[in-house]
Amino acid sequence: MADNTPILELRNVNKSFGPIDVLHDISIRVRAGEVLCLLGDNGAGKSTLIKTMAGVHKPTTGQILMDGQPVVFNNPREAGERGIATVHQFGGTFALMTIGRSFFIGVEPTRGWGPFKIFDRKKANAIAVKAVQDFGITRIDDGDRLVGGLSGGERQSLAIARAVHFGARVLILDEPTAALGVKQATHVLRIVNEAKRRGLAVVFITHQVMHAMTVGDHFAVLIRGAVAADFRKGEKSREEITDLMAGGETMADLEAQIEGYMEKHQGHPPPPAN
Ligand SMILES: Nc1ncnc2c1ncn2[C@@H]1O[C@H](COP(=O)(O)OP(=O)(O)O)[C@@H](O)[C@H]1O
Ligand SMILES: [Mg+2]
Repeated sequence: MADNTPILELRNVNKSFGPIDVLHDISIRVRAGEVLCLLGDNGAGKSTLIKTMAGVHKPTTGQILMDGQPVVFNNPREAGERGIATVHQFGGTFALMTIGRSFFIGVEPTRGWGPFKIFDRKKANAIAVKAVQDFGITRIDDGDRLVGGLSGGERQSLAIARAVHFGARVLILDEPTAALGVKQATHVLRIVNEAKRRGLAVVFITHQVMHAMTVGDHFAVLIRGAVAADFRKGEKSREEITDLMAGGETMADLEAQIEGYMEKHQGHPPPPAN
């Protein structure tokens, strides 16, 4: 299919929890080989939006389309079967498991397992290590190592390699670089680029503008549950994006406010907002 139809599209999606309206008329799309960055401050609705894409929530109104066809996901499993994979901060529940083991957790015996019904440690390790190394993470070379012993970046990379290995077409990453140092984050950004090169559609959530600008082809800024801006790579500067995320308040305004406060308070900075 060489056309330009988005793999995943949301059309006029609204989501309410009882009386609370969280998402307002969201329309976004992501194509094969493209990274869509979802930006927005805490509470903007980013997680709710990706949960709606991944079958955790159903839209209250509006449509989800895959390859141009309307789809309904009754649960995350159904979304997963269509190739929508969400990668969270990996490790917690897998920390005490080996790399080879964790790679195959939750995989249907009839689908991914193929020939081996009983856990074949050596084979599982070989498959897991190859999948991760194919993504350029050559430091992972022993499937018997515990997931908990990997760095944060390596864990993310393992999780992404795993999703891709099991046929993900849409990769949803919720703040994958938030808890990582600079070097580790670079690692993950490289993996995201590799996933894109392989033709996946990637939805990348972050509030780190530099990370977004490094991998993003398309950007959507969420403010209070609505898409406040939607633009392509190169159309806005880093400053403009940062200002947008701050809800339209420019950094210059903010600095002026802080300076004004400090003048009135003998040079003491204002207390943090939260
Ligand atoms: N299940 C829910 N019931 C009620 N309100 C919710 C629920 N989930 C999220 N919200 C609200 O939706 C808003 C957006 O939350 P969230 O999607 O987690 O934002 P983000 O990921 O951008 O920080 C918040 O005000 C949050 O309290
Ligand atoms: Mg969130």
